[in-house]
Amino acid sequence: MIEIKGVSKAYAGSRHKAVDNLSWIVPDGAITGFIGPNGAGKSTSIHMMTGSLEPDAGSILLNGVDIVKDPIEAKRQFGFVPDVPDVFLNLKAIEYLNFMADLYAVPTAERSRFLGEVPARLEIADVLDNQIAALSHGMRQKVIIMGALIHRPPIWILDEPMAGLDPKSAFELKKMMREHAASGRSVLFSTHVLEVAEKLCDQICVINHGRQLYLGTLEQLKARHPGMSLEDIFLAITEGGTGDATGDAR
Ligand SMILES: Nc1ncnc2c1ncn2[C@@H]1O[C@H](COP(=O)(O)OP(=O)(O)O)[C@@H](O)[C@H]1O
Ligand SMILES: [Mg+2]
Repeated sequence: MIEIKGVSKAYAGSRHKAVDNLSWIVPDGAITGFIGPNGAGKSTSIHMMTGSLEPDAGSILLNGVDIVKDPIEAKRQFGFVPDVPDVFLNLKAIEYLNFMADLYAVPTAERSRFLGEVPARLEIADVLDNQIAALSHGMRQKVIIMGALIHRPPIWILDEPMAGLDPKSAFELKKMMREHAASGRSVLFSTHVLEVAEKLCDQICVINHGRQLYLGTLEQLKARHPGMSLEDIFLAITEGGTGDATGDAR
């Protein structure tokens, strides 16, 4: 579970808040979609959840642990897939995965089990000996996803994880997200692509200009706008400014 309480952030030199008083709960046992157009404030929010940016106001608890007050313990709670998969380019994929497993002290047997299963699911087993720099964007993305999950974190936080993935890998990743949520843990992912959210999310949080415009289920949102396509609803909420809705799933 992630508890986000009154979180705001303005970047230095900006007159506008990139994130403005965000408050919501990412529950266990569910997939939560964090939805908004480019520049809405999704990545800024996520970076505050993962401790790489400190909020100007508010607090964030990951399974009850405050990311600012107890960052090491809080960071044990989640695996994070950033939006840009260009890290450790000089390492071979397998070296990166072992490095991540070392960081989180993953026992050898568990590591082998993971490496025997997940790379095959994501169709990347045969490139593990390649340098990350030599991999395509989608392949890099898969390596980063595996690095984030190798320590079997209870909370998954993924920033635009489907971007650059081929359909088969996107399908497998969605399946893994569902399995993780079904095991009682939390999955939070951001997207600006509505279709991705539609079939996947148990709950959505829509933001634009840093402000939370809707929190609830997609079904509730659709029910409030009868006869409108999801795209039209989305445009109506995000362009309407103030937002008209909070669902019942708060
Ligand atoms: N490092 C930064 N410095 C200054 N402004 C930033 C920085 N990162 C993002 N922003 C601004 O903050 C706002 C939210 O950006 P971001 O959180 O990246 O949105 P999203 O992930 O939803 O596309 C945008 O107006 C963006 O230009
Ligand atoms: Mg982003």
